Formats: sequence, structure tokens, C-alpha cells
Amino acid sequence: MKVLVIGGGGREHAIVWKFAQSPRVDKIYCCPGNAGISDLAECVDLNMNDYDGLVDFVKYEWIDLTIVGPEDPLSKGIVDVFEKNDLKIVGPNRKAAQLESSKVFAKEFMKRYGIPTAEYRVFNSYLHAEEYVRMKGAPIVIKADGLAAGKGVIVAKSIDEAIDALKKIMKERVFGEAGERVVIEECLEGEEASYLIFTDGETILPLASSQDHKRVFDNDEGPNTGGMGAYSPAPVVSSDIEEKIMEKVMKPAIKGLSREGIKYKGVLYAGLMIKDGEPYVLEFNCRFGDPETQPLLTRLKSDLLEISLAIVEERLSRMTLQWRPEASVCVVAASGGYPGKYEKGRVITGLEEVKKMEDVVVFHAGTTYQDGKIVTSGGRVLGVTALGVDIKDARDRAYNAIEKIHFEGMHYRKDIARRAIER
Ligand code: AMP
Ligand code: GLY
Repeated sequence: MKVLVIGGGGREHAIVWKFAQSPRVDKIYCCPGNAGISDLAECVDLNMNDYDGLVDFVKYEWIDLTIVGPEDPLSKGIVDVFEKNDLKIVGPNRKAAQLESSKVFAKEFMKRYGIPTAEYRVFNSYLHAEEYVRMKGAPIVIKADGLAAGKGVIVAKSIDEAIDALKKIMKERVFGEAGERVVIEECLEGEEASYLIFTDGETILPLASSQDHKRVFDNDEGPNTGGMGAYSPAPVVSSDIEEKIMEKVMKPAIKGLSREGIKYKGVLYAGLMIKDGEPYVLEFNCRFGDPETQPLLTRLKSDLLEISLAIVEERLSRMTLQWRPEASVCVVAASGGYPGKYEKGRVITGLEEVKKMEDVVVFHAGTTYQDGKIVTSGGRVLGVTALGVDIKDARDRAYNAIEKIHFEGMHYRKDIARRAIER
């Protein structure tokens, strides 16, 4: 079979890497891909947002299945276009993807189905929003309604910070239309976890638990990023919590969507805060997480192609997932300055040495070839993912490997998975 992966980050490298292990996959294409992905797939230089162009390509190459990594094409309806053309594609359609593309939609949806989440109000007037912030006080969380590349959420520690965020989002429109409305919500304290499921719109197949590290610096300091590292399993998600996530979040979500005539097919990701033994949804994402996918797919034994086909063909009820017993840890190396401005084109060394290490995989994110050398081309450059007998072992192995890699300005967190080990 031939498959096409849409995207070019670490998550997509992990998806390509996993597909490459499937005995039924003959050829993988990736649009746009990156330097690491090009070892396993043919990278195609097509516009990721020109869905008709992609449809033509898929038909011309006789590609059997497409899977979408990032949220942007999903929220703009890539799945709707492919399905209209009778092409198999893994991911929710535009309506279903609103769970991620509109925070207002997601909050109202959770309220309708009693899914636990922080208390909130929606505003489309700056003055009323400011008034509400002054009345509620800090800490308080301000969220732009639409997609803002992970930057639209501000956990404000003071009223001034909250008002500054409101001004930027609603008046200066730094996120454009995404800031037409804001959600202002109660700040929850606890431990975060990511919980992902596969679903064909009816059956729910949970993945192993995982945890991301969103802040750029150690001890969760500095601004939010796309994610600086992740590990799986997440000890905070005990079997008791897992049952609560399934009963209070995932089952009502899939049932609620179905009641509203929305068949959700693909991966549904709940970003959770675990507080006093209860899960609260901070956000839904309509896709695999990045970097959570890297530790998750290195642990997954089952064939991703079989799972993907079962999702598309709505026969997930006959599938089960098998996992490797080891733990997995991913440490992300970023360009100097990320998540702010950063330079590109820095030569990366040490990759060949790490390739020889057992159960260690370097998933590329922002990398490309320049004059025959692999150079940086993005903020998050790569993620070193290692398996180990437990989280501590996996973490030691990941850090041991990342120390062999170098590029000018490279920085990475030194405390990935520390909390899990100290528990
Ligand atoms: P989101 O994109 O909604 O997941 O928000 C990004 C990050 O902001 C989350 O991973 C949390 O760290 C933080 N966050 C979001 N909502 C809240 C909340 N209600 N209370 C505390 N932190 C939050
Ligand atoms: N790791 C967070 C995300 O994928 O949105």
C-alpha cells in the first residue's frame, strides 16, 4: 500500500517511522517532510493547503491512504475534500475539528455534555472582558477563540498581565480573526497530562498516557512553546484517573458529537489538568500531539496502518492496541531564541553517532539539507526519543544521546520527566 503523511515536524517523522515498519506499506510520501523523513519517505514539494492539488497527486500516484498531522488543514476541511473524492484519509472533518479550532465551540460543547472543565465566560467586547477580569482577579486564563499556533493562551499571574493579553488579542489582533472572541477562564492548579484516543466515531481505543512540557525553560519557566519534551506513560494518570477520563471525558465527547450529527474519525487528544484526583479538560486537539506522538509511537507495538484503515472503514471495535512495556522519553532540541526569533541554516552534527544507539530514535522537526549537510530550518529542530526499562532509564538514555548532537545555539530542557521520576 502507498500512504501519504501531511506535515513535516517531529510528530510526522514518528508517524512515517511507524508506517515504515508495517509489512503492508510499500511506499510512503510526505508533504512537505524534512531531512530525517526523507530517509524513509519521498518528500513532496506541494502546497499543504492546496487540497485539490493534493487530491490530484493522490489520484495520480494511486495512494491508498492519507494521514494528517497538523491542525491547520484539518480545521480548514482537508478531510471533507478528500472524502468528497472518495479518498481514504485519517482525521476529523472540518465540523469535528472545531473542537480544536474554536475554544468557544469546545467550551460550550463541554458544558452541554457535562464534561469537566474550568469555569469560563465568552466575550466579544473588549470592555466587558476587561471588566470581567477586574472583577475576577488573578490568576486568570485568557484564550483567543481561534487557532493561534499554540500561542493564543495566556495564563496571567496578575490583572495587568491579563489586560495586556486582552489588548493584544482583541484590540491589536495579533492573532487576526482568532481574536474576535476570547474565553476567560478560571486558572486550575494541578498536574497536566495528555490523553489520546483513536476513534472511528463510535468505538474508542485509548492510547497510553503521556505528558508534555510546554514551557521553554527548566522548572516550567519562560513562555509556552509547541512542547519541549514528553514521556509515556505518565504516572499521574493512574488506572483510577484513566477510568474517570474515559467515563467523564472521552465517552461523553464522542457520544455528544454523534448526537450533534458529527462523526469524529481520527485521533482525539484531551489536554488535562489532574486536580484533587479529578481530570479537567484544558483543551481538545483534533490530532496527534507533538512531541507526545514520539514517545507514544515508539512504545506502540500494533501496526499503525491497520489502525488507520480500521478508523477510516469504521471497524475499530475489532482492534486492540499492543504496547511495549518499556517507558519512552523524548527531549526536544530547539534553535537559539525559540520560541521567539531564531536563526536557520546551522549545521547539525552527531546524528550518525546517535543512529548507532539501540532503542534511540532522533525524530527530525525543523531540519533540511543544504549543500549535502543537514541544517536547522525551524524552531524545534529535533527530538531525541529513547526507550528504557522505566522512565528514569529512558530519560538517562535520551540525555546521553542528545549530548552527542550539536548545532550553534542549540538548547534543550534538562528536566524532562523529572517530575515523573520524583513521584
Ligand atoms: P491550551 O492550549 O488550552 O492547552 O493551553 C495551553 C496551556 O496553558 C496548557 O497546557 C496549560 O499549561 C495552560 N492552561 C490552559 N488553560 C488553563 C487553565 N484553565 N488553568 C491553568 N492552566 C491552563
Ligand atoms: N504538545 C501539544 C500539542 O501537540 O498541542
